[in-house]
Amino acid sequence: MGASVVTAVGSGIGLYYLEKNSAHANMEADGLHPPSYPFPQKKLFGTFDHASIRRGFQVFKEVCSACHSLDLVYWRNLVGVAYSEDEVRVMAEEFEYTDGPNDNGEMFERPGKLTDPIPRPYANEEAARAANAGALPPDLSLITKARHGGVDYIYALLTGYCDPPAGVEIREGLNYNPYFPGGSIAMAQNIFDGVVEFEDGTPNTASQITKDVVTFLNWAAEPELDDRKKIGTKAILLFSILTAISLWVKRNRWHTLKSRKIAFNPPSNWKKPNGPPSTKH
Ligand code: HEC
Repeated sequence: MGASVVTAVGSGIGLYYLEKNSAHANMEADGLHPPSYPFPQKKLFGTFDHASIRRGFQVFKEVCSACHSLDLVYWRNLVGVAYSEDEVRVMAEEFEYTDGPNDNGEMFERPGKLTDPIPRPYANEEAARAANAGALPPDLSLITKARHGGVDYIYALLTGYCDPPAGVEIREGLNYNPYFPGGSIAMAQNIFDGVVEFEDGTPNTASQITKDVVTFLNWAAEPELDDRKKIGTKAILLFSILTAISLWVKRNRWHTLKSRKIAFNPPSNWKKPNGPPSTKH
């Protein structure tokens, strides 16, 4: 028993150090490890800051949507989350969508509706690569789930552009970013102080803009987060009450058996069954 505990603890410590050191060992290939940022939705009972989601969508629309698609988000998804139905309708109508065929068998253009997806910047992957020197801007619908480090990584990446350290050569057309695995990323820095103007008067510093767009992307990837935490809290409360009741019922049902004492007082001439034959006669 003692030996197995020692082995378990020993291998635990060993694994911990292996994991810790390997994170540093390959920093160049894996990218710098992002710091942990205090996003409210990361806390146990924390939920999204919806004003931030609203500002974040504005950033996405004005900056990122020039290159990135958001295929899994439809206009209607924004209703009741960050915008009212009328506001979303107005935004959707600014874009033209191909629909049809009509009675003459022809496709036609019409303004966007709530049931349309957020428009993509490029018709296909080839067009996207052609416009970005061969690199493909990934779809951002699930990006916070698709990258190690999640929101912390995306925030660190977007704010992490800097000059390459001495001795590091960056290929023409690429940019140095220590958080990106490999260090050189095809996407140039595109968030700067004042790059968008927020309608609610929030200061438009680069870090604020980045925080908002990351919150928006986190919502896009996990739109169920608020509900999940609400239902989870209720379920834990309910199940703790049910557990307490079932423990009480168990005690109640078993107490006659559990508190029973069975005693046997052998008579003086009693012979133990199967015992050695008694020598007394
Ligand atoms: C001018 C085009 C352009 C704009 C604007 C742009 N990106 Fe990118 N983005 C790219 C390209 C190209 C890549 C692929 C980079 C690579 O693979 O080297 C990319 C990659 C990414 C990645 C993935 C990084 C990874 O780990 O693979 C994220 C996240 C991202 N962009 C977020 C954003 C956000 C958020 C915005 C808006 C603030 C934005 N981008 C604006 C072109 C753009």
